[in-house]
Amino acid sequence: MIILAIESSCDDTAAAVVRDGEVLSNIISSQDIHDLYGGIVPELASREHVKAIAPIVRAALNEAKINLDGIDAIAVTNGPGLAGSLLVGCHFAKGLAMRHAKPLYPIHHIEAHLYSGYLEDPSLPYPSVCLVVSGGHTSIFHVTGPSKYSMMGSTKDDAAGEAFDKIAKLIGLGYPGGPHVDRLSRTGNAKAFDLPRGLINESSYQFSFSGLKTAVRREVEKLRLKGAELPVEDLCASTQTAIVDVLVSKTMRAVDELGVQAVVIAGGVSANSELRSRMSMAAEQRGITFVAPRLGYCVDNAAMIAFVAQLRIESRGPKESIGVHSNFVIEPKPLRS
Ligand code: KG4
Ligand code: ZN
Repeated sequence: MIILAIESSCDDTAAAVVRDGEVLSNIISSQDIHDLYGGIVPELASREHVKAIAPIVRAALNEAKINLDGIDAIAVTNGPGLAGSLLVGCHFAKGLAMRHAKPLYPIHHIEAHLYSGYLEDPSLPYPSVCLVVSGGHTSIFHVTGPSKYSMMGSTKDDAAGEAFDKIAKLIGLGYPGGPHVDRLSRTGNAKAFDLPRGLINESSYQFSFSGLKTAVRREVEKLRLKGAELPVEDLCASTQTAIVDVLVSKTMRAVDELGVQAVVIAGGVSANSELRSRMSMAAEQRGITFVAPRLGYCVDNAAMIAFVAQLRIESRGPKESIGVHSNFVIEPKPLRS
């Protein structure tokens, strides 16, 4: 089974070709234009997708050394995401599917992040706990099998990546802020500022990062009033450790409560070096498997979209695909919880 997948839910245009779980190509084109504005501008994102989508799909096919006739199915992210961005990918995929008479699979973006650990390591056991942590999401899932999962909790306000990005902006760093904070934290003192760990002692699996952002803003205002130079590295290290403390604590509480033997982190923030090392240590202490997928499977990518389509085909059979002529619904189905 060879699947061509397209992902355009936010500000990355991505295409991949996956054959029976083996990634033949995984092309991601990021949109630098948003750096100028300190955040994603939805209208610009859609326009950039329009420019990039055909060359990126062609590049994915070329790298996989395959043409569209050799593809068995097409998969595309149909949500959640920015409406204009999703429309570009969905309509492009639908056009290809109709033109080449291929079945088309609409895929939920977060479900795809959830299974990226299984894409990275097919020997990963079920059940597992998966932390999906990105610019738009911070949620913990109990994953019990292919296409079988339930959400245990998510953020009440900002996502962890959003907190990284907003705090980075406050202290004068570029967009996206997460990688800058990660890099500068290496030379900073994580104990320099006593920042809040939202909901860390609550038994629920909900997160809250808006209090952290406010606390950092207050520290920055105090320092500026004094005319002091911002200790950027210390602010980064203190922020990062506050976020990672909460993510590790809640994820490991879920691991202990459910008694699972595997834990996965996924989404853009899972690229964070402190999150990776602290999760890895916590898993090692418990003697369980930990998977942090490679960067190309962590960030928004199409290989994970193809992989989830393949899981769906394997579990339900190709006849249940939505087919070329059935209705194609752009709205995402809500995640099961
Ligand atoms: O999954 P993703 O590529 O896009 C979505 O949000 O769906 O995640 C992007 C987020 C941004 O907020 C970015 O700042 C964050 O991931 N990020 C990081 C790191 N690399 C990316 N956050 C912390 N540390 C990093 N190294
Ligand atoms: Zn994502």
